[in-house]
Amino acid sequence: LLVDKGNHRHFMAKEIYEQPETISHTLSHYVDMGAEKVAIRETLPFDFADLSRLTMSACGTAYYAGAIAKYWFERFARLPVDIDVASEFRYREPPLEKGGLSLFISQSGETADTLAALRYCAGQGQHVASLVNTLESTIARESGVVFPILCGPEIGVASTKALTAQLTALASLAIAAGRARGVLSAEQEAELVRALTALPSAVSAALGAEAQIIDISKRLSKAKDVLYLGRGAMFPVAMEGALKLKEISYIHAEGYAAGELKHGPIALVDEAMPVIVVAPSDELVDKTLSNMQEVAARGGKIILITDEDGAESVGHGVADIIKIPHVHSFVAPILATIPVQLLAYHTAVFMGTDVDQPRNLAKSVTVE
Ligand code: G6P
Repeated sequence: LLVDKGNHRHFMAKEIYEQPETISHTLSHYVDMGAEKVAIRETLPFDFADLSRLTMSACGTAYYAGAIAKYWFERFARLPVDIDVASEFRYREPPLEKGGLSLFISQSGETADTLAALRYCAGQGQHVASLVNTLESTIARESGVVFPILCGPEIGVASTKALTAQLTALASLAIAAGRARGVLSAEQEAELVRALTALPSAVSAALGAEAQIIDISKRLSKAKDVLYLGRGAMFPVAMEGALKLKEISYIHAEGYAAGELKHGPIALVDEAMPVIVVAPSDELVDKTLSNMQEVAARGGKIILITDEDGAESVGHGVADIIKIPHVHSFVAPILATIPVQLLAYHTAVFMGTDVDQPRNLAKSVTVE
């Protein structure tokens, strides 16, 4: 298999920039754009309408894909979701209902802990579904149904395009579940499908903030610790942002639920602490922005990721606002991953680290 970097300095940059196309590709598998419907091609050995719970396990970035999707399945399909990192799930041996659905998310399809979690669930009589990029993988082979993410080979150790492809597929599955469970009407489905189909061009536009992000990253590269805040589905986006920064720039970072700020991390805030707030305008944005003001009042350096409406409601107090296009709040967490990827990438470039092969990390962790 021959994959090259094209005109990019690193595979990670190439993979970040491919996302408008890879998301389109994933969408063309899951969505009938003309009919504005989700069209699942795989034969489902279960019926979403009969499920009382969805159990998800994954590791690393794939875990955050599941953590974001939890908000969608609960909101749009009223389906309760449990999500765990596979290394915890497998040893906790949670009780599972026979005939329930377990879903495993893995780019490589070879992650040892995720595979062990899958085998545990299969042993408990669960329907086993997986969401993978590598269809010839062990996880795919051992699954009752395999949902492909179709983003092409991902070479950079830090996952980027696989995450947005996982999210696109999960969003489609959540809509399918919502329809099957009688929660979403055909009109609501059409509205959510239109939101998904608007993503590729919104991602292209979000990539246009690169010059500004380079400038911010230069300052970020001098930080010792960085805090990421988000609320609702932006909370896992914040955790993913922190993971990405740690992985490739080696700067310590933490992702926190914005509402938990007062319960600990606010003690860390001083003039030297950059705080990245992920808050596109949605039902919860005012709450997050008021958490942000608490940071600002303590001298924290805020970098706000938001859209035009969000930027208007904060006024002039914030020096750095990275704007992403305004999209339906359903798909906003997918779009918000783009600036966090670019921030981590450019910060790492300033640090001079080995971006595609960060120290101590592997693309696929096939041992425990
Ligand atoms: C490693 C990689 C991550 C990836 C995780 C899960 O830690 O460095 O980028 O998210 O494994 O990998 P998987 O192939 O199961 O998605």
